Amino acid sequence: MTWRDAISTALYGPEGFYVTGGTPVPAAHFSTSAQTGTPFARAVLRLLRRVDRLLDHPDPVDLVDVGAGGGELLDAVHRLLADPPGTLADRIRLTGVDPAPRPAGLPEPVAWRTAPPTGTTGLLVATEWLDNVPLDLAVRDGDRLRCLLVDPATGRQHPGRELGAADSAWLARWWPPLPDGAQAEIGRPRDEAWAAAVRTLRRGVAVTVDYGHRYADRPVTGTLTGFRAGRTVAPVPDGSCDLTAHVAIDAVAAAGSAAVGGAGHLLCRQRDALHRLGVHGRRPPLALAGTDPRGYLAALAAASTAAELTDPDGLGGHWWLVQPVGLAVDAESLLV
Ligand SMILES: C[S@@+](CC[C@H](N)C(=O)[O-])C[C@H]1O[C@@H](n2cnc3c(N)ncnc32)[C@H](O)[C@@H]1O
Repeated sequence: MTWRDAISTALYGPEGFYVTGGTPVPAAHFSTSAQTGTPFARAVLRLLRRVDRLLDHPDPVDLVDVGAGGGELLDAVHRLLADPPGTLADRIRLTGVDPAPRPAGLPEPVAWRTAPPTGTTGLLVATEWLDNVPLDLAVRDGDRLRCLLVDPATGRQHPGRELGAADSAWLARWWPPLPDGAQAEIGRPRDEAWAAAVRTLRRGVAVTVDYGHRYADRPVTGTLTGFRAGRTVAPVPDGSCDLTAHVAIDAVAAAGSAAVGGAGHLLCRQRDALHRLGVHGRRPPLALAGTDPRGYLAALAAASTAAELTDPDGLGGHWWLVQPVGLAVDAESLLV
């Protein structure tokens, strides 16, 4: 079986990990930026307010979260909007998109769907979605590139048929030449998934946040990894673990731009993006502890989360791809 088919079944099939692995699956097995709650949601909301201004305050203004998992981001944004209430809260339409069932306890105004709505106006976000989009693996076998096949029960793999034209073209464009026996992860399905998501926006900004690599630092040994209960495990596609591979983020960026007529985009690390959106890990002044002990403790907790989100060796090293759609703005200016 190809890896792409094996991963699809292992994650999203009837007995797949995202169907049977606990509720909600992501938070039960690994931590993400979206799960950290308020500081990350505040940054997304700040970006949404900028987009809303650029769009001249449409009604409704959409926030669509693709691959919303446990719905933590939308839940946190919904809470932040209530305090203080304002015009954005009256106009916003919050939508989570995920094949997983609607998370229990998600606020009633948040819609939940299995495919993104089309023709939306506002902000589309996708955090740690693309690394879970199933993909194929290729191996060089002499002067041929072959698709790797895998036994879903054991994870044992062997070279199969010669690679098709589309995958060969993707590798030729986006992966450095492979030495004999070396493997590559073919990111084409992620490019297509992102391009399709971007196309659902009529006007606004699409942002994807994920771990990944660019041409110059493609992984030599591959990144396909299994996760279960907070631990790294062998990537066996038998439905017992999450399966993830780093995203070829420059390829995704090019596909997203091409999907909307060659518009520009911004690609930066999460640390940089969050700093620009006002998220810093600075500790509150100690004097606050004397005058407002509760406020001090809350600020200390927020600073600790912000430090985690901006750690260059952890979540801060994730990529932010920021893609304007139908807006005559320089992508760089969106985070300033
Ligand atoms: C690693 S989780 C990330 C969840 C959440 N965004 C976060 O950062 O915590 C990836 C999610 O993408 C979802 N997903 C996979 N394929 C999808 C698709 N085609 N459309 C929408 N969501 C999808 C999975 O079900 C899973 O909940």
